[in-house]
Amino acid sequence: MSHRIGIIGGDGIGPEVTSVAEQVVRATGVEFVAVPFDLGGSRYLRTGEILPDEILGEIRELDAVLLGAVGAPDVPPGVLERGLLLKLRFELDLYVNLRPFRAGPGRHNDGVDFAVVRENTEGVYAGEGGFLRKGTPREIATQGSVNTRLGVERCVRYAFELAQQRERRHLTLVHKTNVLTFAGDLWQRTFDEVAPEFSDVDTAYHHVDAACIHLVADPGRYDVVVTDNLFGDILTDLGGAVAGGIGRAASANLNPDRTGPSLFEPVHGSAPDIAGTGRADPRAAIVSAAMMLEFLGEAEAAARIEKAVATTDDVSGTTTEIGDAVTARL
Ligand code: NAI
Ligand code: MG
Repeated sequence: MSHRIGIIGGDGIGPEVTSVAEQVVRATGVEFVAVPFDLGGSRYLRTGEILPDEILGEIRELDAVLLGAVGAPDVPPGVLERGLLLKLRFELDLYVNLRPFRAGPGRHNDGVDFAVVRENTEGVYAGEGGFLRKGTPREIATQGSVNTRLGVERCVRYAFELAQQRERRHLTLVHKTNVLTFAGDLWQRTFDEVAPEFSDVDTAYHHVDAACIHLVADPGRYDVVVTDNLFGDILTDLGGAVAGGIGRAASANLNPDRTGPSLFEPVHGSAPDIAGTGRADPRAAIVSAAMMLEFLGEAEAAARIEKAVATTDDVSGTTTEIGDAVTARL
């Protein structure tokens, strides 16, 4: 069966890295139809459109989406994040953001291998809050953190299932339960109630500030980490810095219930500073494409890509040269 895969190249280096990732997937022999979408900063600047409803409808019918990055210097902050990236996460119910971190042999933090499961539809990103008396000296801005039992439980459950499949079978909840006593309490209670169903998984709890220290000082202690949307956003940038670097950090925005397509993207942005120079490292996009294949049931092709990328530590060069090296080592 051929997969229908939407490709949102986006802006800057986004299209450069997704076209290489597409080429690598093609080289595995997996059958797929690529459906390109013109979305991102350049479309917005040209037409004022961000994510038209009919396009969202077409995306819903796909099997998966591969996204490069969106963002252009002339687009005000928040427009594409809220209007495109967060809208896709909410509309497609991509409630797990999965980010694996692996440092290959010979690299900084050699042997480190952990994954962060970040809740992707709630928390402070849900958009609850607003202004009162905006623009006056007594202005008030609130930004609430939305945490639902259903939303927390499905994320925690996914993290336990993932931990159960891994060799170490260890799951750490990261939050700030000592200060965020309402949201933290819901997370901790849910975690404690689900845990007995996974009695073969060892558990731990760390406050997010302590987790930052551990991630830098002793990242090897983590196997799977589960956390809320904001803490996960920050921890995963730190994770990228301690294992693999920005050119390697891949992510999956998953709808584990499979009521629609899941979306796969490198963690990095559109890097306008190097766009068009051929200096973009395509490996984060390639590994994201491998995560996509695995989610689509093409585990063998996914493993071949991951293995090929892992052997390219000695390879530097242009975007195309790195892509060709990965393809050659498949
Ligand atoms: P960025 O990730 O685009 O760039 C940060 C630094 O890393 C730059 O020096 C860049 O040259 C370098 N870099 C990034 N990816 C690289 C790669 N594959 N190979 C080699 N070097 C790479 O983050 P920045 O500068 O904060 O944001 C640039 C634009 O991207 C903004 O408009 C931002 O809103 C957007 N952005 C979009 C994201 C997305 O689509 N998911 C995520 C993060 C940022
Ligand atoms: Mg981030």
